[in-house]
Amino acid sequence: MRLPRFVSIPSSTMKRLVALTLIGVLASACLGRPASEAEGEEIYLQLCSNCHGVQLQGGLGPALGPGSNAAVQPDEFLRLAITDGRGRMPSFSSTLTEDQVGRLVSYLRREQAG
Ligand code: HEC
Repeated sequence: MRLPRFVSIPSSTMKRLVALTLIGVLASACLGRPASEAEGEEIYLQLCSNCHGVQLQGGLGPALGPGSNAAVQPDEFLRLAITDGRGRMPSFSSTLTEDQVGRLVSYLRREQAG
């Protein structure tokens, strides 16, 4: 039986690969969480805009801007959607602090007011 090809990779290459993978994992762990002092807009662009649109116009997720359903819902509804997730939207309770969720809701309110 022939050994699979990866077995013959020299160990120094392997070590380099492991190190690079670790650096990648650490970097993404840092980047995946907004800086604690990040403004609502920065957090929105980092975590929400790929589904809800850079201008809150909607995409995979519903629009959140002026005239949207979200605009006429109470703050608590927005906070709950963000912390618990809804349907295909993931929960952000372990990614965002309560403070950050508050800043995010304020940002949405400012944008909705036009
Ligand atoms: C993976 C895509 C995705 C991401 C990322 C995402 N959402 Fe959503 N969001 C959705 C979808 C899909 C819904 C609709 C869920 C349903 O009602 O079934 C939704 C619903 C919502 C709602 C309720 C809107 C309504 O009218 O019912 C709010 C508010 C919301 N998202 C805010 C956010 C915020 C703020 C972020 C960033 C922290 C975010 N979302 C990130 C996909 C996403």
